[in-house]
Amino acid sequence: MRAPVYVATLAAALFSVPTTAATAAAEKDCKPKYSQRMASSIIARGQGVMTGLGGASEALQAGVVQKAFTALSAHAAHDHASAATYEQYVRVSATSVIPFLSNALTDSLTYPMDRLSNGNALLALSTAKGSLYRIAADALRESINLNRRNSEGGLWYFVYPYWSYLDGMYSLAPFYTLYSLTRPGSNRTASLDDMLLQFDLLWRHTRHNATGLLSHGYDASRTAVWADPVTGASPYVWGRSLGWYTMALVDTIEILEKEKAPSKYKASLLDKFQNLMPAVLKAVDPRTGGWWQIVDQPGKAGNYIESSATAMFSYSLLKGARLGYLPKKLAPTAAIVGARAQKYLTDHFVVENADGTLGWNGTVAVCSLNSTASYEYYVGQPILYNSVLGSASYVLASVEVEKL
Ligand SMILES: *[C@@H]1O[C@H](CO)[C@@H](O)[C@H](O)[C@H]1NC(C)=O
Ligand SMILES: *[C@@H]1O[C@H](CO)[C@@H](O)[C@H](O)[C@H]1NC(C)=O
Ligand SMILES: *[C@@H]1O[C@H](CO)[C@@H](O)[C@H](O)[C@H]1NC(C)=O
Ligand SMILES: *[C@@H]1O[C@H](CO)[C@@H](O)[C@H](O)[C@H]1NC(C)=O
Repeated sequence: MRAPVYVATLAAALFSVPTTAATAAAEKDCKPKYSQRMASSIIARGQGVMTGLGGASEALQAGVVQKAFTALSAHAAHDHASAATYEQYVRVSATSVIPFLSNALTDSLTYPMDRLSNGNALLALSTAKGSLYRIAADALRESINLNRRNSEGGLWYFVYPYWSYLDGMYSLAPFYTLYSLTRPGSNRTASLDDMLLQFDLLWRHTRHNATGLLSHGYDASRTAVWADPVTGASPYVWGRSLGWYTMALVDTIEILEKEKAPSKYKASLLDKFQNLMPAVLKAVDPRTGGWWQIVDQPGKAGNYIESSATAMFSYSLLKGARLGYLPKKLAPTAAIVGARAQKYLTDHFVVENADGTLGWNGTVAVCSLNSTASYEYYVGQPILYNSVLGSASYVLASVEVEKL
């Protein structure tokens, strides 16, 4: 599966094949890549470090930075100094969450499922028994048992009774899976079965038969103003929530494979991934190569190409193609569409600052189901400048492009 044949064709299609002289010039120029430039800019802004003062999404901001920088430091391993810088920042970020997330009960009651995005870095740093990293990782794992659930066993995303969101899967599944497969006495089979159940419940409740896309979430009690009377689903396909779900699938499949989990788990998630990604490909905006804030309402007044969702789909498509998680026939197209999206982001949402750092534009603030969940609600939420939920996802997508 390494170095598939389509890569050369792909590179030629995307970027006109450079001449030898141009290649030499580019090497001499030695410009840092966008993945590293954006990561250094995130560091320069001090983002992804939890302070307790940064609002409800701080734990998720830390978690997504840790994941992006972990991928980047592995990718940049030949450049020891840079790799060490990113690794060190993962440690700083993971250390910063310890005071907030080391109590399982508080975790389960006061933080959304997003808290679990910190778990993989905490596990990686948990080398010594009794270390604070291990205590925090164990508390996060225990908080899954304490998290409230609906009558079908679906985990509540946060404090809203019986509501489950796609968003939570990115934080839950890779951590739940890695913990179950690497920590002895972790109730492995029941935990992995539960992980699959969470993907499945969201799928069954939120999938639109016509498009194959998933809407933002569902209310198992069907009482929310937005809930479909039959399925409980919210009405719209919100780009970023679906992006979290597709990244959850591809990252969890990778862990299941690496840790040699029983094959039924990978088979189940691959089935979903291979069913969902063609729908995501179909929904791409043909003019820009990006995805809409409300994915299933292309071109409607007020709708726009949203940068965090575009980065997440770019990453999911490229990584899925690279690791062989997509059907052979689809992989080349997926990689081309993923790379084109990353280039659109670079050209339209990456901002060159005078001091050499990169800014990031076009990422929507929080969209919550604690709202009308109407079309007007989703397109009316503010755009945040330098949102790390978008820029860290762009680092992930850029690492994938640089691997081509
Ligand atoms: C293992 O997980 C199952 C399902 O979540 C639960 O019912 C059971 O009590 C757990 N057992 C232990 C020893 O934690
Ligand atoms: C969607 O498809 C599923 C599976 O084929 C079917 O059970 C369900 O009734 C369909 N729902 C709608 C609203 O058409
Ligand atoms: C961010 O995007 C908005 C909307 O396109 C634009 O008005 C604004 O100038 C951009 N900010 C920067 C710093 O480029
Ligand atoms: C949910 O929305 C209501 C109404 O806007 C607000 O008062 C409440 O604080 C929100 N709940 C949370 C947990 O944010």
